[in-house]
Amino acid sequence: MKITKICCIGAGYVGGPTMAVIAQKCPHIQVTVVDLNAERIAAWNDENVDNIPIYEPGLSAVVAEARGRNLFFSTEVDKAIDEAQLIFISVNTPTKTYGKGKGMAADLKYIELCARQIAQVAKDNKIVVEKSTLPVRTAEAIKNILDHTGNGVQFQILSNPEFLAEGTAVEDLLHPDRILIGGDTTLEGQEAIQALVDVYAHWVPASKILTTNVWSSELSKLTANAFLAQRISSINAMSELCEKTGADVNEVARAIGMDSRIGSKFLKSSVGFGGSCFQKDILNLVYIAKSYGLNEVADYWEQVIIMNDHQKRRFSTQIVQTLYNTVAAKKIAFLGWAFKKDTNDTRESAAIYVANDLINEQAQIAVYDPKVSQAKALADLDYLETRSKEANAKQLQSFASPYDACHGAHAIAVLTEWDEFKTYDWQKIYDGMQKPAFVFDGRNLLHRAEMEAIGFVYQGIGA
Ligand code: UDX
Ligand code: ADP
Repeated sequence: MKITKICCIGAGYVGGPTMAVIAQKCPHIQVTVVDLNAERIAAWNDENVDNIPIYEPGLSAVVAEARGRNLFFSTEVDKAIDEAQLIFISVNTPTKTYGKGKGMAADLKYIELCARQIAQVAKDNKIVVEKSTLPVRTAEAIKNILDHTGNGVQFQILSNPEFLAEGTAVEDLLHPDRILIGGDTTLEGQEAIQALVDVYAHWVPASKILTTNVWSSELSKLTANAFLAQRISSINAMSELCEKTGADVNEVARAIGMDSRIGSKFLKSSVGFGGSCFQKDILNLVYIAKSYGLNEVADYWEQVIIMNDHQKRRFSTQIVQTLYNTVAAKKIAFLGWAFKKDTNDTRESAAIYVANDLINEQAQIAVYDPKVSQAKALADLDYLETRSKEANAKQLQSFASPYDACHGAHAIAVLTEWDEFKTYDWQKIYDGMQKPAFVFDGRNLLHRAEMEAIGFVYQGIGA
């Protein structure tokens, strides 16, 4: 099947950047990204390309090049499904907040709705590609819905998991370590795989395009994220031991990272990992393992999450203890709210949990994040349902300038590793703060000796 029209359902952090790069690299393919959220689509179509709803370095340039040429953003879901030969499903799959598997299993209601909509609209054969991270064997469920509710047309389901990391999405899409495509072993399945391989082959070397069966592909995505998150929890576990023993976790990370069998990436100790994938995928893995009765497997992976929760809690506890066991009515400045630098995404950001703990102790949180608004930070807190919206609004305020956020504060907590934090006039910040002026660096971003020379009481992670 020669692909001339692609539709992507879901214009989020995955669908948006992925389709923009496909459109840029395949000018002869018409790529239409659809979403139910009209506001989001309007933002993608904003005349000023800097106003697109997702902040990713390099993304606005890619969108500017392809948009209106062969890249379109629309709310007309049915039309785009009807016209396309290849349909990506990139809708959100949050952890369930209700019923069986609550807090563990992935909520597949958006996926199912998509499958039903495709089945209803399709008048000719389609290739449907799972892009969202899904539990193993979801493809089977999608196929079932399509085959039983469709108009007799043939569907091929492929799994093509996304490995891009936010903040480096465009770079990851342009130069992926690998592209993974899982499909049916039948002739039709292999043809569908080839059609998708041909799309990526426009810019990805053949040696980096891996094809497998559907289940291996689905499970590989969960496994990759579980391994990456496990490295962070492993080094974070060591950070606590370093603090007790006088070792420095940065030195330990460097020392072990030089072992080529271990490698140096993903060994940065922090206040805890966030993001939409790691926790969700591991919980998902734990749920699947339990559902097969594999309790040891489930417990093994669950420990990665337990360690991460401990690391976030440990950070907030340390702030309270250091500030003479009370933060009530004290202004604590948060530098950063996003779950990592170079993104405006805040899902599962450690900042949310640390703020929640400190607000329980009646602290006043003053946030500065270059890309996150006060409304977003408050919505994140409200989502935890710890207290009323009004109560949250009284305890958290955002500032447009880091100097204003820090002015009069008893302590600064660095929650995101934004590069600009390193370039501030720290003497000026120090002069404006209550004394002793504390800095809790949850990212080991700032230079301890320089901060101490100014007069700050500086505490990093694991050193
Ligand atoms: C992750 C995977 O990297 C990506 O392949 C997958 O497709 C989606 O999930 P993402 O969550 O966007 O990507 O970002 P990532 O760079 O993996 O960071 C996740 C979290 O771990 C962030 O909060 C980050 O700050 C933290 N982290 C990362 C550390 O604390 N230490 C590290 O050494 C690396
Ligand atoms: P991700 O990080 O996985 O891309 P996002 O939440 O950023 O997740 O994006 C998912 C997008 O999918 C949202 O913009 C949401 O409105 C959209 N979406 C969810 N269900 C549907 C649907 N049935 N049809 C169209 N769009 C949908």
